[in-house]
Amino acid sequence: MCGIVGYIGHRDAYPIIVNGLKRLEYRGYDSAGIALYDGKDVQLSKTKGKVADLENRVKKEIATNGNLGIGHTRWATHGVPNDVNSHPHYSNSGDLVIIHNGIIENYDSIKKELIKRGYTFKSDTDTEVLINLIEDIKKNEKVKLGKAVQIALNEVIGAYAIAVFDKTKPNEIVVARLGSPLAIGVGEDEFFIASDATPFIEFTKNAIYLEDEELAVVRLGKKVKVRKIKDDKLVDPYIQELRLNIEQIEKGGYDHFMLKEIYEQPKAIRDTYRGRLLREQGLIKMAGVEDNMKKFLNADRILIVACGTSWHAGLVAEYVFESFARVPVEVEYASEFRYRDPIITDKDVLIAISQSGETADTLAAIKLAKSKGAFVFGVCNVVGSSISRETHAGAYTHAGPEIGVASTKAFTTQITVLTLIALRLARAKGTMTSSEYRTHLLELELIPEKVERALESDSTIKEIAAIYKDSPNCLYLGRGYNFPVALEGALKLKEISYIHAEGYPAAEMKHGPIALIDEQMPVVVIATRKGHYEKVVSNIQEIKSRKGKIIGIVFEGDTEVKGLADHVIEIPETEEALSPLLTTIPLQLLSYHIAVMRDCNVDQPRNLAKSVTVE
Ligand code: F6R
Repeated sequence: MCGIVGYIGHRDAYPIIVNGLKRLEYRGYDSAGIALYDGKDVQLSKTKGKVADLENRVKKEIATNGNLGIGHTRWATHGVPNDVNSHPHYSNSGDLVIIHNGIIENYDSIKKELIKRGYTFKSDTDTEVLINLIEDIKKNEKVKLGKAVQIALNEVIGAYAIAVFDKTKPNEIVVARLGSPLAIGVGEDEFFIASDATPFIEFTKNAIYLEDEELAVVRLGKKVKVRKIKDDKLVDPYIQELRLNIEQIEKGGYDHFMLKEIYEQPKAIRDTYRGRLLREQGLIKMAGVEDNMKKFLNADRILIVACGTSWHAGLVAEYVFESFARVPVEVEYASEFRYRDPIITDKDVLIAISQSGETADTLAAIKLAKSKGAFVFGVCNVVGSSISRETHAGAYTHAGPEIGVASTKAFTTQITVLTLIALRLARAKGTMTSSEYRTHLLELELIPEKVERALESDSTIKEIAAIYKDSPNCLYLGRGYNFPVALEGALKLKEISYIHAEGYPAAEMKHGPIALIDEQMPVVVIATRKGHYEKVVSNIQEIKSRKGKIIGIVFEGDTEVKGLADHVIEIPETEEALSPLLTTIPLQLLSYHIAVMRDCNVDQPRNLAKSVTVE
């Protein structure tokens, strides 16, 4: 959940590392630090706070020259966020320096052992234990840094992406990964290291993504040497050409990444179905599905695992798959699934959904399902991510980089991919009439244009946000396909504005939440004219008679809800199964505006990180 960056080459390392850390700040922003080798010694500065705080501190504390350096932005696991616990960490001799993303689970026993041997520790971190273990091995076994790192990693239990250098041999950085991502940018006589490719995209398009349990020695003037940590086998590293460009990772005139990403949804959804939805031929083509059609058709059921917003996309998919393809679907939080000894067979298809492709619980659920013989299909956004590599097959969402911590375009593009799969299976199984099938293809193709129209309600939504920005609570209600959207709307509001919010199936209101309703309580009700409309209207009446404030999300031209609600936000009409792609838009904008008005840090909400690589 932390971000790591490193550089070795002919350029000044400092600006590359600081800019890189800013791009990786979505991965954690409790504290930040940097270590540079200035030709003679290590210049190290670190602080609680954000990368901007680090920059201020660096100005006062250290010289910033040097062509070798490593930097870190932290989401605390062991040890509270403070200056001392921030990375990088020195070994006791001061020669070795490390940055680490992950957790060393058995650090306590190793620490006790090292203390017995005379080592002392400044911080409470597992990382400082690891660097001293490396030092101890290097000293006692008289091995080079790479070998010492390898031996140490064979002793630790946990997850890591690390970068280590030795100031007495400043021509190399040793990196390794297990469970946390690590990319090496390969330039002309220079190398970049980072948790993802964004920190070095303007310098090189060539990257090596380390696999789990691999270690690489990145040495000036040499090819990158990669080996397996366990059996010491040399691996021929695959140099991947990156498609990312710099515009994709900048704000492009928007105040926040979240707003930019909300507005990018028409394009993102189009990119998701481009080349896959061939309406004129009446076809859906997805290689990952086509190549494994038998697995899908013979499946007794589909299991979906994910976390957070991706789990909500899975819930929408449950309705879509069951209705279109008539296959039973179970959706589970990956964190629960992995630990409850689930019954999985080789007749199961498991779909894992993840924007980052790095979520630790989802990854563990995949490994479990694979070990029981299930066919595992990934729906990921980040190309080359751990989940995309761990699954048997998959489909990328092609949403482009999502940098705002609150997920927006990832959600709608995940639903788009899952809907395409459900339609393809429905076609293959004959569970949908061809006219229904064609109507859905056509409607899906029209969604980006309709999202554009939904975005036009922005100013109305801003006015509504101004009225409710100080409410301490908010309820979100929806039914059927829009029940998961109610959950998602509530999650968006709580995570970025810190207002307590709950999502419920509208009919469940009577079983408890109705007790909360009074004239102070805003209730967002998704009441699209298709699917349980009359029932939702009755729910609205129940809220109204208890003086709750109703914000209705309705299809254009609705009159009934308009007559009852305090506010309505209109979206274009579409097929019921596709409506989550549109009803989500005003909920994203509502939470965005409320968070801005409450002066919250929209892109980096407190305590959160974009990529949850620890369980
Ligand atoms: C909420 C949010 C999180 C993620 C969750 C899963 O806005 O972003 O709830 O959806 O952490 O992350 P991925 O999809 O990367 O597996």
